[in-house]
This record gives sequence, structure tokens and C-alpha cells, in this order.
Amino acid sequence: MSHRGFFITVEGGEGAGKSTAARMLERALAAEGYEVLLTREPGGIPIAEQIRQVLLDRENKGMDGRTEALLYAAARRQHFVQKIVPALQEGKVVLCDRFIDSSLAYQGYARGLGIDEVLEINRFATGGAMPDVTFFLDISPEAGLKRIGKDKSREVNRLDLESQSFHKLVHEGYKLLLKRFPERIVRIDAENEPDKILDLMMSVLRARMRGKPSGSGTSSPE
Ligand code: TYD
Repeated sequence: MSHRGFFITVEGGEGAGKSTAARMLERALAAEGYEVLLTREPGGIPIAEQIRQVLLDRENKGMDGRTEALLYAAARRQHFVQKIVPALQEGKVVLCDRFIDSSLAYQGYARGLGIDEVLEINRFATGGAMPDVTFFLDISPEAGLKRIGKDKSREVNRLDLESQSFHKLVHEGYKLLLKRFPERIVRIDAENEPDKILDLMMSVLRARMRGKPSGSGTSSPE
């Protein structure tokens, strides 16, 4: 069964400014008359929040890479079926801060589990559905980590404690994904000013969402 909504995800390494970009995009799309759901994984779904606590707990130093990938996929599944799919079926534009590509870059590439292997478990999790458009906010790992270092209010989670070389691998992983999914993933230079980033994203969306709402590429999960 297809739906009428439009599914956008925002991706990037630590400190790329994803959440700010997503909030600006939400306001801009709403101003153009779209009904928008802004969400982030795990997005306030209690089951997924519980899984997230296990994932980000700094005490869980011994977590195996595959366990980590499976838990992210499980949390994604619950958030997807409980929140994303119903909104898409109502014809909304869904804007999600991180989705499958985070797992592909962090677990698939940086952890070395394999992009294809992680894609496979995520296909199982979402029934094969992929975003219509993904914005990759591209910032060098050094600049990104510097930005989050300045934000003292930010909670330091288990993945933030990874080495600089891990974050470099995450960045390389995203660049590989950009090559692999050139139609879906759009690179945005995250060193730009926020207003410029918004303009760049909106011009992509105006071209791709022409004629919306009506029939998008994604379909409901199993
Ligand atoms: P969060 O605080 O949501 O990160 P951010 O503010 O950077 O978006 O923490 C999520 C962490 O989990 C972040 O370090 C990225 C990581 N992550 C994965 O490794 N795989 C995934 O599939 C997702 C969704 C997140």
C-alpha cells in the first residue's frame, strides 16, 4: 500500500547541526502549507526510548557491535511503525533527525560490521522503506567535535566517548553512502551559515516535492 506523504531524513556526524537544520526546515515547510511531523530516533516512543537507554548508557562498555546494530534497528522499527508510517499515511511530511544511514555509517562502516550487512537488518526493520530525500550535513570530524565541545549543556553519550578516529570513519562512511545512493542523498556543506543551509535544502525540496501531496516513492512496511 503506498501513502501520500513525503519522508525526509537529516544525517551527519556529531556537531553537524542536524537538529537546528531540521527545526528550521520544519518551520519553512509549515510556512509553505505542509503538515509536518518533526521527529528523531527514538522520537518519544516508550519502547524505543527504553532501547535507547541501553544503547547510550556509558556503563555498557562491553556492548558487542552486532548487538548495537540490532538494538538501533529494533528501536527504529518501533518508532517507524508507531510514528512515521501513520504520519505518512495521513499525507504529512515527515522530517526525521537520523535514520538508517546513521546505522550504515556508524555500525556498518565505522564499527566495521559491513554496510550491506547492516542494510539488510534495517531492511527487515523497515520492510524495505527508505526516505524520499536524505540531507547529509557534511562537516569535518575535527570541526564537528569542536562545535559539540563548546556546548556544555550537551549530554555526553557512549558514542561521543569514541575516539577521534572513529568519528573520522563515520565521516568516511557517510561519503561512501553519498556515492552509493546519489539520487536519494544530497550533500549540504555544514560550514555554511544556518540560513544558507536552509535555502539549499528548500531548493532541493521544492524541486522534488513538486505536485505533493500525491504518491511518494516509499511504501508501508510489512
Ligand atoms: P544523539 O544524542 O541522538 O546524537 P546526535 O545529537 O548526535 O544526533 O545520540 C545518538 C548517538 O547514536 C549518536 O552518537 C549517533 C549514534 N547512532 C548510531 O550509532 N546508529 C544509529 O543508527 C543512530 C540512529 C544513532
